[in-house]
Amino acid sequence: MARHLITSAIPYINGIKHLGNLVGSQLPADLFARYQRARGNEVLFLCATDEHGTPAELAASKAGQPVAEYCAQMHEVQSKIAEGFCLSFDHFGRSSSPQNHALTQHFAGRLADAGLIREVSEKQMYSLADGRYLPDRYIEGTCPNCGFEDARGDQCDNCTKQLDPTDLINPRSTISGATDLEKRETRHLYLAQSQMRDQLQTWVDSKTDWPVLTTSIAKKWLNDGDGLQDRGITRDLAWGIPVKKGQDPWTGMEDKVFYVWFDAPIEYIASAQEWHDAGKGTDWERWWRIDKGAEDVIYTQFMGKDNVPFHTLSFPATILGSGEPWKLVDYIKSFNYLNYDGGQFSTSRGRGVFMDQALEILPSDYWRWWLLRNAPESSDAEFTWDLFQSNTNKDLADVLGNFVSRVTKFCRSKFGEIVPENGTWGYQEEALIAELNQRLRAYESFMEATEVRKAASELRSIWVAGNEYLQAAAPWSTFKQDPEKAAGQVRLALNLIRLYAVVSSPFIPDACARILAAMKTDDTSWPNDVKSDLKTLPPGHAFAVPEVTFRKITDDEREEWKTRFSGTHA
Ligand code: MF3
Ligand code: ZN
Repeated sequence: MARHLITSAIPYINGIKHLGNLVGSQLPADLFARYQRARGNEVLFLCATDEHGTPAELAASKAGQPVAEYCAQMHEVQSKIAEGFCLSFDHFGRSSSPQNHALTQHFAGRLADAGLIREVSEKQMYSLADGRYLPDRYIEGTCPNCGFEDARGDQCDNCTKQLDPTDLINPRSTISGATDLEKRETRHLYLAQSQMRDQLQTWVDSKTDWPVLTTSIAKKWLNDGDGLQDRGITRDLAWGIPVKKGQDPWTGMEDKVFYVWFDAPIEYIASAQEWHDAGKGTDWERWWRIDKGAEDVIYTQFMGKDNVPFHTLSFPATILGSGEPWKLVDYIKSFNYLNYDGGQFSTSRGRGVFMDQALEILPSDYWRWWLLRNAPESSDAEFTWDLFQSNTNKDLADVLGNFVSRVTKFCRSKFGEIVPENGTWGYQEEALIAELNQRLRAYESFMEATEVRKAASELRSIWVAGNEYLQAAAPWSTFKQDPEKAAGQVRLALNLIRLYAVVSSPFIPDACARILAAMKTDDTSWPNDVKSDLKTLPPGHAFAVPEVTFRKITDDEREEWKTRFSGTHA
């Protein structure tokens, strides 16, 4: 039995995520976790909310709530939505947990002891009206290079010049519009990532099996002069993890917190500790410390491509720099972006489908199936309502749903709601069994390799094979001359329904659970030898015709949703 530690990039606390966010990390991570559990492996699947940083503070103040209260509430909201999508986290933690506070401070202390932290004095813009330092992207002003009036503090969108906010002419706060900004001298802690270049390079080079998308981004950052610059890990904010050296105060840093990107990945570890402390598991270190049993753990991370540098360089720098035997990631699966109907998803314009809205209009399996089937692996992908309607109607209703309903209804009408006795299998059955054995092995290897689209397409072929068999064997006509032969065909097909429910459940867990319930079995053993697996439900086993497994999406619905989610203003 293998042991799989699986993490999904932790979603920001502010606001509800859209389908593009979902398919970029949480959903494929869940697919992999469910698959590994189905194969009998031991899995610890962790996620959390990413709760610190300026956007969280601003969202809370917009909602008129104290930030701690806002985060607690939004954590509940995201947690409920995750349940709605059947995301099977063993724990959905919070980066603001006491465990993460302690662990983040611990890492900072270790890094300081290792000589990897230095203090840097820098000038930053302070807004008197807002009462806060302004992060670069919350400052706009006139570009010193081209005169564009709405240049952002980090870059001018007009001439693309990289800027420092202190370069801007007539800078203003985009939070309040205030112009009474002043440059203030402030001291920050920097993590000396550049000292770790060789170690990181060797580590990345050793990962020859990583997806191209992951390695190409990692190598670009390693080899780009700027990529591995030392990086500030503290901020002048009120909300966050107070800067301490382990449990000791850090002189001069009393009013500062760690940068959100420093503490967020540490939450992967803290989430395991939260899981343990909540009584859900017995030994978190067995998953995370190679000196305490984690040497045989296989650790896989899932994330969107914009997260790759933090997971291939910064977080490993934290782990390696600590000099402690923490588990490093073995495999990083990253994704491109999902676009929405000819543009981007946009939170501010309400453009695209957000996770809560998706569940209001259709069951989770429709979304899971479509998103995973079209996962943005080798390139960006695009959601359109036409594609969504045609893919789900065909795959789920016409292929899988139709098989389940035809077989169970036919059996009920001729033999009752019971697996029929008698009947032998001939060459048609042998051919189907051979095809299924071969396709199942292919499906397994795509799932092992987190080749999401290929796995989905193989699974669909497995469903199609059953339909084609049914069409060719045609028990409804066989029955007229040879009822016994028809009985054998139906018995095979009923067992195939169970097999489908087992192997499809990583993709569409909800429907599969309903199918297994209708087949009145809790035997979810994975098919290793299709011939004997198709004998799991014995003659005389009772079942019930399931209710419609997948209804079709109508053209009217498709048009209505197209309009409804097109965004409030163009
Ligand atoms: N919240 C970040 C995002 O949504 C992801 C953080 S992943 C972690 O892009 F590594 F920092 F945890
Ligand atoms: Zn410019």
